[in-house]
Amino acid sequence: MNAGFRADRFEYVISEGDTLARARRILSRFDLGGDLDVIRLGPNSSERDLESFAEVAIDGGVLPPPASVLSGEMRRGVFLVAKDKASGRAVSCAAAIENFHFSSRRADHAFWGMLSTLPEWRGRKIALILGAQAMVSFHEDYGISRFTTGVRAENGASMALCAKLDMLPGKWCTYVGMDPAQFSSAQVTK
Ligand SMILES: CC(C)(COP(=O)(O)OP(=O)(O)OC[C@H]1O[C@@H](n2cnc3c(N)ncnc32)[C@H](O)[C@@H]1OP(=O)(O)O)[C@@H](O)C(=O)NCCC(=O)NCCS
Repeated sequence: MNAGFRADRFEYVISEGDTLARARRILSRFDLGGDLDVIRLGPNSSERDLESFAEVAIDGGVLPPPASVLSGEMRRGVFLVAKDKASGRAVSCAAAIENFHFSSRRADHAFWGMLSTLPEWRGRKIALILGAQAMVSFHEDYGISRFTTGVRAENGASMALCAKLDMLPGKWCTYVGMDPAQFSSAQVTK
């Protein structure tokens, strides 16, 4: 931090082994309801759709990746947005992305998370379903079934949601140093 960076700390939350089975069970038990559409971002996504993911993420205090990652140009990933059919407004987002080097001991894990639901849409299991869908799609496309994420210790809602997917905090945490000139907020996740 002597370099003038700001620090952020969050818990390292990791799949305990049953994650994919739980995600599939969630998708077979619950659905989003008829008023929402789910879109998956990709190379043909409009700029508006890429922006809508970023807007929902930022609304929840979660840092979205750049457009080159959201569109799949830079990394293998699954980026989902739930949209209100009536207004076309994006109301929730979730993602899974490759993030470990192939020689890492975590090479069989991917990052999962970036969950955010607009306040007026919370409590309908939207984040749980979208998060489960991101995991299942990532597994179907890239074969990975274990995930890690970062959650602030005091974020009880997120911790409870993660636990439903067998994602639990262990003995590790993550410290990030951020250049204040690049990041206006000292927070990567919630
Ligand atoms: C966390 C967040 C994404 C949950 O969105 P949501 O769509 O309301 O969540 P769901 O309805 O799918 O909730 C699924 C489960 O998560 C847990 N949960 C969600 N909100 C909760 C709350 N306020 N308190 C405690 N548990 C909660 C519950 O276990 C819930 O299951 P239940 O409905 O059977 O009780 C939402 O509160 C949000 O956007 N928060 C700000 C951003 C954030 O913290 N993101 C996580 C970053 S790590």
